[in-house]
Amino acid sequence: MSSELQQKIRATIQNPVNVGEMEGADAVGTVGSAACGEMLRMWVKFREVDGRKVIDRASFQSFGCETAIAIASLATELIKGKTPEQALSMRGAEFAAELGPLPPMKIHCGELVEGALRSALGAESSTPSAVSSSADKAPPQVPSLMDSMNAALNSSAGSGAKIVLLRQQANEH
Ligand code: FES
Repeated sequence: MSSELQQKIRATIQNPVNVGEMEGADAVGTVGSAACGEMLRMWVKFREVDGRKVIDRASFQSFGCETAIAIASLATELIKGKTPEQALSMRGAEFAAELGPLPPMKIHCGELVEGALRSALGAESSTPSAVSSSADKAPPQVPSLMDSMNAALNSSAGSGAKIVLLRQQANEH
C-alpha cells in the first residue's frame, strides 16, 4: 500500500464520522469477509423528500481493518440524500474514491462496506413500505456486532442476525 494511501486512510480514521449503533434505524445489515474475517454492520435511516424515500443518515460499526473503517466512514456520508436504488448502484470503489486507488489486497475492504449497505437495504426492500419513523416502527433488534462475531465464529447455527459472508473476488477488479 502506498504511503499516500496510508496517510489518507489515517487522516480519515482519525476523525471517522457516523460511527456507532443508530437508535431508531429503519434498516440494518451485517456482513463478514471470508477473505480476512473482518465484520461490518451498517444502520440506515430514511426520510421522505418530495414523495421519495431517501437515506437520511447512516452509521456503522466495524471489526475491520483501517481501510474498511475509512471507507465506511466515507460511504455513510456519500449515501446521504440518495434513494435506496441510487445507493445500491454505488460500488466499493466509489465509496473509496477519495482515498485514491486501492491496492488489490484492499479492494475487498470496499466490498465489505458495499455488502453491509446491500444487506441493510436488501432487508428494507423486502418489506416495501413508506418511510417510517422510529416512533411508528421499532428499530431492528439485532445482537451486538461482538455477539454476532462470536456466534459466527463459534456456531454454524448463526446468531439471529443476518450475516453475509463475502467471498474474495480477486479477478473482478
Ligand atoms: Fe479485510 Fe480490510 S483487510 S476488510
